[in-house]
Amino acid sequence: MAGIRKISVFVVLTTIVYAVSGQSSKLNVPRVLLPIFKEFNTNFTLKVTDEGCYKWSTSRIDLIQLISPNPENVLSDCSSSVVVSAITKEQSRNTAIVFAEDQTSGLIFRCDVIVDVIASLNIVTTTRELFMEEAPEAFEVQAYDDQGRFH
Ligand SMILES: *[C@@H]1O[C@H](CO)[C@@H](O)[C@H](O)[C@H]1NC(C)=O
Repeated sequence: MAGIRKISVFVVLTTIVYAVSGQSSKLNVPRVLLPIFKEFNTNFTLKVTDEGCYKWSTSRIDLIQLISPNPENVLSDCSSSVVVSAITKEQSRNTAIVFAEDQTSGLIFRCDVIVDVIASLNIVTTTRELFMEEAPEAFEVQAYDDQGRFH
C-alpha cells in the first residue's frame, strides 16, 4: 500500500515539474516603465516569445491603450504582439497590468506597465564626451520621478 502511495506522489510531482517546464512561452519583458508626457503618448511593443494566437487585455483602460502592431488593422483576438500606449495625462505613478491569453492553451501571461512622470534623467557613461562620428559605447539611463525614485 505504502509503495503505491509513493508511486502516485512521484507521478504527481513529475506532472507538476513537466507542466511548469513546458510553459516556455512568455512575454519579452515582465515589467515596463512608460513615461508620461503632455504632448504625446509613449509606446512600447509587447511580444510573446512564441508565435501564436493571443488575446490581449488590460486592467486599466484609463491609463493605457492596446493598439494593433499593424496600424491598418484593429487589434484582433489573435495576435502575438501589441503596442501599449500610455494615454493618461495624470501626473502620477500608476500601474496597469497587461494580460496575454493563449487562445489554444488558455494560459495567461502578464506584464506590469508602470506609467510615471519622469522628472530627471541621468546618463551614466565612462566616456564623458560623445563625438558625432563615433558610435557611443553602451550607456545606461537612470530615470527619476519627482520624489527621486529610481527606475
Ligand atoms: C504612439 O502611437 C500612437 C498611435 O499609433 C501615435 O499616434 C503616437 O504618435 C506614437 N507615439 C510616439 C512617441 O511615437
